[in-house]
Formats: sequence, C-alpha cells, structure tokens
Amino acid sequence: MAGRLDGKVAIVTGAGQTPGDTIGNGRAISLLFAREGARVLLVDKNLASAQETYLLITREGKDALAFEADVTRADDCRRMTEACLERFGKIDILVNNVGTGGEALGPVKLKEEDWDRIFAVNAKSVFLTSKYVIPRMEAQGGGVIINISSIAAVCATPMLAYRSSKAAVNALTQSLAIMYGPLGIRVNSIMPGLMDTPMAIEGISRARGISKEELRAERAQRVPLKGGMGTAWDTAYAALFLASDEAKFITGAILPVDGGQSARIG
Ligand SMILES: NC(=O)c1ccc[n+]([C@@H]2O[C@H](COP(=O)([O-])OP(=O)(O)OC[C@H]3O[C@@H](n4cnc5c(N)ncnc54)[C@H](O)[C@@H]3O)[C@@H](O)[C@H]2O)c1
Repeated sequence: MAGRLDGKVAIVTGAGQTPGDTIGNGRAISLLFAREGARVLLVDKNLASAQETYLLITREGKDALAFEADVTRADDCRRMTEACLERFGKIDILVNNVGTGGEALGPVKLKEEDWDRIFAVNAKSVFLTSKYVIPRMEAQGGGVIINISSIAAVCATPMLAYRSSKAAVNALTQSLAIMYGPLGIRVNSIMPGLMDTPMAIEGISRARGISKEELRAERAQRVPLKGGMGTAWDTAYAALFLASDEAKFITGAILPVDGGQSARIG
C-alpha cells in the first residue's frame, strides 16, 4: 500500500527523546513519517538518542540518518540543511519539534539565563532552521513546515517563559505562513496538551518530587475527553496529516491536540 509521505524527505528536530517509559513526540513523528514512506534526517544535540530512533526506523527497513546539531546555533542549522541535501537531495518537510519546559516560575524567581535558554530552544530555533531551510524549499517550489508548540501558549500555566516562548512559536507560524504562502510553503503548528511522554511525566514528577503514577492520575482527570492524557502518537498522526498532501489547502493553522482541554474556558 502507498505511504502517505512516499517520496518525501523530512527533517525532524529533537528526534531523540528524554529517557523514560513511553515514546516522545519527536521520536514518534520520525517513526511514523518513515513508516509512511519519508526518508528522515533525525536531528538532535544528543546524537546517541537520535541514533536510537535511527535503529528503530532502520529495523523496519526504512531510510534515515541521525545528525548531531544544536538548533539554537545558526551554524548547526546551516550544517543540518546541507547534510539533508547531501544525503537525500531535497527537503520537503521540516518539523521543528525541539522544546524545553523549565520550572513553573514567574519573573521574580525565574533566572534571566533560564528565560534566554527557554526562548532560544523553543522560539529562536524556529527562526534559525527557517533561515536555512526556506530558501531550499523556495528553490524546490514549495514545502511544509510544522512547528510543535504547546497548549501552554493559550492556556493558563505558571511556566511563564515556556508559555511566552510557545506563543512566539504560534506567531512565527502565522507570519511564516503569510510570508511564504505565495511560494508554496505551508506552515502550521500543533499544540499538544497533556501528553504521557517522558518530557512531561519523568520531567515534571522529578521537578515536583511526586511519583509518576500520582502525576499521571492528576493530569488524566484534567482532560475533558474520555481516556485521559494523549500520547506522542496523537501528536505524530496530526503531524502526518499536516505534512501530507491531504492538507494541501491548510496553512497558518494552529491545531490543538489536547482532548478538548483548550475548549474549556472558565
Ligand atoms: N510532552 C508533552 O507533554 C508536551 C506537551 C506540549 C508540547 N510539547 C512539545 O513537544 C516537543 C518535544 O516533545 P518530545 O516529547 O519530543 O520531547 P523530548 O524531551 O522527549 O525530546 C526532545 C529532544 O530534543 C532534543 N533537544 C533539546 N534541545 C535541543 C537543541 N537545542 N538542539 C537539538 N536538539 C535538542 C533533546 O536532546 C531531546 O532528544 C517540545 O516542543 C515540547 O514543548 C510536549
């Protein structure tokens, strides 16, 4: 059966993952894209983690390449773009998945260097990867960019820097969609909600000093939709749709994947 991304080449940033019990968003997106026929450049500053994703993909007989880069650095984004072109000859899809949460702190307690780091990872990285990938997509006559934002961009959260940086990702998404729509480049973002991923469960349970099961139960009851939290596969299937030609008339969209959490106002 034909894959939904047959013949496409994708770059996924943050294609490794935080170690834990479950699969992370970047790894699930990479695996699903490969299963659907894409060749994938697996970018991560932690090469060993990207290589684990590579092994999962190649074990299924699909093609990928793990590549070490820190996407907060312009030169690494340039190298990442060149590596993709050298190995796969083109770039059809860019998924800006890297992200970091930080502590639930307001301006009084949050350190300036943490604010800068969170903005660099979450927002500046989108600017920098776009800087190098967009000219290539323009030369090819089009492409697709998917930014992994967060429902935190629009919901109340005490994580000030995280929320503000994800709101910036949404703004970048809409600006790029308008700027590059005439060139055939679609730009959309996904806002995952409460997900059962290591970034959330391992990261937050450690930060708050509570057990993973306690945290899972607490998060599950905040989700309106029956079944509790989502998983990285929910993010990945949304990304697959947006990356595929099925979404050819969709650009500038900011899609919640959150079991209805953002629909509950008041
Ligand atoms: N997990 C959730 O509950 C949740 C909810 C909402 C939004 N998100 C968003 O999903 C995205 C990532 O999810 P994930 O599950 O893949 O996270 P993850 O922590 O499992 O994986 C992120 C990967 O990015 C890599 N990375 C971090 N900074 C980097 C940098 N500067 N350059 C290159 N690589 C870097 C890390 O090494 C890691 O392998 C983030 O943007 C996050 O904000 C997650």
